[in-house]
Amino acid sequence: MMKNFSKIPVNRLSAEEAAVELERLAAEIRKHDQLYYQKDAPVVADAQYDALRLRNEAIEKLFPGLVRADSPGKNVGAAPSAKFTKVTHSQPMLSLGNAFSVADVSDFLERVRRFLGLSQDAPLALTAEPKIDGLSASLRYEGGEFVLGATRGDGEVGEDITRNLQTVGDIPKHLKGDGWPDVLEVRGEIYIARPDFLALNARNRKEGKALFANPRNAAAGSVRQLDPAITASRPLRFFAYGWGEVSPNPFQEQMKALESFRRWGFRVNGKTKLFNELNELEKYYDNIERIRATLDYDIDGVVYKINWLDYQARLGQAGRSPRWAVARKFPAEKATTVLLDIDIQVGRTGALTPVAKLKPVTVGGVVVSSATLHNADEIARKDIRIGDTVVIQRAGDVIPQVVEVVLRQRPRGAQPYRFPTLCPVCKSSAVREGDDVAVRCTGGLVCPAQRIERLRHFVSRNAFDIEGLGKKQVQAFFEKGLVHSPADIFKLEKMNRTLEPPIEEWEGWGEQSVKNLFAAVNQRRTISFERFLFALGIRHVGDNNAALLARTYGTVEAFLAAIGEAVDMETQAYGELVNIDGIGPKVAEALMDFFGEEHNRKVVDDLLGEVAVEPAKAVSSSSPVSGKTIVFTGTMEKMSRSEAKALAERLGAKVSGSVSAKTDLVVAGPGAGSKLKKAAGLGVEVIDEAAWLKLAGS
Ligand code: IVH
Repeated sequence: MMKNFSKIPVNRLSAEEAAVELERLAAEIRKHDQLYYQKDAPVVADAQYDALRLRNEAIEKLFPGLVRADSPGKNVGAAPSAKFTKVTHSQPMLSLGNAFSVADVSDFLERVRRFLGLSQDAPLALTAEPKIDGLSASLRYEGGEFVLGATRGDGEVGEDITRNLQTVGDIPKHLKGDGWPDVLEVRGEIYIARPDFLALNARNRKEGKALFANPRNAAAGSVRQLDPAITASRPLRFFAYGWGEVSPNPFQEQMKALESFRRWGFRVNGKTKLFNELNELEKYYDNIERIRATLDYDIDGVVYKINWLDYQARLGQAGRSPRWAVARKFPAEKATTVLLDIDIQVGRTGALTPVAKLKPVTVGGVVVSSATLHNADEIARKDIRIGDTVVIQRAGDVIPQVVEVVLRQRPRGAQPYRFPTLCPVCKSSAVREGDDVAVRCTGGLVCPAQRIERLRHFVSRNAFDIEGLGKKQVQAFFEKGLVHSPADIFKLEKMNRTLEPPIEEWEGWGEQSVKNLFAAVNQRRTISFERFLFALGIRHVGDNNAALLARTYGTVEAFLAAIGEAVDMETQAYGELVNIDGIGPKVAEALMDFFGEEHNRKVVDDLLGEVAVEPAKAVSSSSPVSGKTIVFTGTMEKMSRSEAKALAERLGAKVSGSVSAKTDLVVAGPGAGSKLKKAAGLGVEVIDEAAWLKLAGS
């Protein structure tokens, strides 16, 4: 085995040792470059990566004769070593719902018409355009000057990459022509054209640098360079397709807005078209799919958007996607490979999920070595056996799946797969209950896998979002007994003071990375109510329901008090909980289960001793219905029931399904019955649709 001199200070290395070290460092840095560029999945902290590069540089300085042909020093600034400033988007950057078939698109159109209260044959114009496979960016112009460029980030908060975007030729520094609004945020896709990508990789190969796996990764890596000079050397391009804040807003139609963008100096995709019918849209889709390979940029589908902006505004968004747009995706790409093994992963709710371990294979430009098998039924239904040759598919950002087995290639003697009856981690029995599809470990909090998964969920992106606390770190802290519950994360820094050895001396850690971790943890000592709630990992409380509950109860104190009362199903608190539009008995039961368990209450209490939870922001605190509870009953004529509900929620109101003493307002249309009577009995204010529209200001 090659000797390892990594612990010897640079100035004490002999020439032979230095040569070995340079070889090791080159390989190590190359490995991390690949993880960073090709997989977008770095495994070391930036500071650690920097340390490797610095050591390499120092040795090269001392032994100039030993500088290798493939020296990482010839590829300076490959990975970021500091951070970009965070920017909160003035309007969130949304993502798109997917449609994989004509039927899905037809459903989309039906939903839109229903929401708007239009008849199913009412005319509806939509734009259609290619869906570019790059990364989205938001460009802010004030008085026609480019002042801020940001990545999408999590949709709410992105990173300030202004200096890098200033180097992109397609992005105007000053808007051209006239008539642009004082504030204009143009949104669109940054990408690298295929021919440019091939040339870039050819250049990298010649210079012994890491190669990018695909144009998307190349674009993403280029945009997040700390040195704008490097970004400038990359052939980045930009298509404008949308906008954020615009004031004053002169637009009335999607298509016309794009035409304005073009006049002001942006590139807009020339294949953007306007249509009126489902079959025209689908013809467009078929055509784009046919010419896909001839385009000089990667696309993964087309996007349909309602053209009329009045309609867009009324439709608003559901969750993190607009109701007025949909991505019509190309079918998943497929490949054939061998199933080497089936791994069982234990999730935070104890579900045993089978994962296919595959002989690595490239699907749509990405190397795939594992795929989900969903559950025991799925394996049985497809009769998937270890050793089988299987067809796998990967659609966009969805986890790869096993589609089917190639039976004629089944090895002789392959046995049907027997799903485990014991949890592979804690050996508790694993069972299936009722109509649950999942086999679950019954170990509960005894099962380390469940506990670790809960902690991982706790620090994940939409929860506490603690940078530097990935799977490996959480697992290590758990196994060393340092972090067993969320509150422990906030006690780590203090514990570390008396720890022997301190974390700084653990393998894979250093002074800087520990410092960064504690800084990241401390940044989260104040947290929004909705993130807090989501982080607890209660079944059926995903980010949407967490947001709904947060908005309804306002503060964590009010919420906990209400849940405490709601345990008794006869109480008003319970009635209110299940009546929150979108909550219902299933979620209520999950909440009762969670807070009914003493251990969970203690986890929450401990955590509240460490963090401050911010009250939920009313969506709009200035509206006359903000904070009020509204019930809609009877038929609405000017807007559909779902639209009325969405509008009320946008204005900061809560919408409930039934009238109680807590109801502030009942909006009654023709045909209203018992709810109206109940409102009268309770003395709740009742108004008609016209008065509601006036109140809502529309
Ligand atoms: S519209 C609210 N149009 O797709 C609508 N997105 O899945 C937001 N994308 O984050 C996006 N081409 O990065 C839109 N012509 C296009 C697009 C496009 C690519 C990306 C974009 C977005 C993602 C959503």
